[in-house]
Amino acid sequence: MATLATAPNSFHRVPHPAPVPAASRAQAIADPGFGKVFTDHMVTIDWEEGRGWHSPRIGPREPLSLDPASAVLHYAQEIFEGLKAYKLEDGAMALFRPDANARRFNASADRLAMPNLPEEAFIEAIRQLVLADREWFPTVQGGSLYLRPFMIATEAFLGVRPAKQYKFLVIASPSGNYFKSGAPAVSIWVSRDYTRAAPGGTGAAKCGGNYAASLVPHAEAVSKGHDQVCFLDAAEHKYVEELGGMNLFFAFEDGSLLTPPLGGTILPGITRDSLITLAREEGLTVREEPYAFDQWRADAASGKLVEAFACGTAAVVTPVGTVASHDGEFTIGSGGPGQTTQRLRDKLVSLQRGIAEDKLGWVTRLD
Ligand code: PLP
Ligand code: COI
Repeated sequence: MATLATAPNSFHRVPHPAPVPAASRAQAIADPGFGKVFTDHMVTIDWEEGRGWHSPRIGPREPLSLDPASAVLHYAQEIFEGLKAYKLEDGAMALFRPDANARRFNASADRLAMPNLPEEAFIEAIRQLVLADREWFPTVQGGSLYLRPFMIATEAFLGVRPAKQYKFLVIASPSGNYFKSGAPAVSIWVSRDYTRAAPGGTGAAKCGGNYAASLVPHAEAVSKGHDQVCFLDAAEHKYVEELGGMNLFFAFEDGSLLTPPLGGTILPGITRDSLITLAREEGLTVREEPYAFDQWRADAASGKLVEAFACGTAAVVTPVGTVASHDGEFTIGSGGPGQTTQRLRDKLVSLQRGIAEDKLGWVTRLD
């Protein structure tokens, strides 16, 4: 099978006939929020059985033309990733651990019976897009260019089996805070009636179907005045797993941290992994252990638990202030950002922004 040429010059460039005018772009990136503003370009690479990946190209961001029988539209054979390009202190553009996103993308592809994309093609596709849309970095404090690589099954066939044709695409969205700014901490709703992922299911894969299934519990959380839904394990409805789009950490009065273990039902977050590494580097004990919801409530009441935070690419590190369920509500610590949360957030952001020295080789410069 032909291997995909991923050298920068192997991407065919389709000229953009009408990029967004500079004045409109400046307005759009001044305070973009999350996921609402999109750049001028997108990358596309096609795959088909017998040929492999081919025709890498970068051109105008435009609607896709899909056969209505495309497998993705019926059986949700789709995966995606989320990562950010940052402007470093010295003005250069960089990605944070894109190789980890590339690996997770292929792990998701394996679970959804989709073809793997070579890691270097994944990263080069992103690099091409960021360079083409370099004028789209938001000017707002803390802003970045959120990148959304994804793969869809495009074969027109209604039988249930892995498709024989796919498209890989990358789009970009200038982004600011995921949560409405000004809130010192988020409030979460622990779902009793819904779970996110069962053992043997797709919880560890970043596939669209997981998010579709989380929308009703998320809407329930929002209707009760909370920011995010928190899922418990599917087997016993006892242990804390993760939020709809973020992993969770708990910080105790003895200085240790705990986060639920990766057992196939939660997404192996790259922010989660980075924070475990940074915390252990500091000498903190980090346990990857199951944590029962009842224990969480008891530890918050006794004062043993002093902080909790959510983490992810979109959310960065966000303190969890209050936790509600059908059994009532409780507050963690002061209900606002705690010291450990703030320190780990600062460490992570300093690395991502090129302020701290990149000893671990996590920062990939793009130009
Ligand atoms: N958990 C879920 C369900 C997510 O959607 C995300 C976001 O990507 C995360 C956790 C955090 O993952 P990461 O830190 O790689 O962004
Ligand atoms: C991300 O953090 O990249 C995600 O995909 C989560 C989603 C809630 C935006």
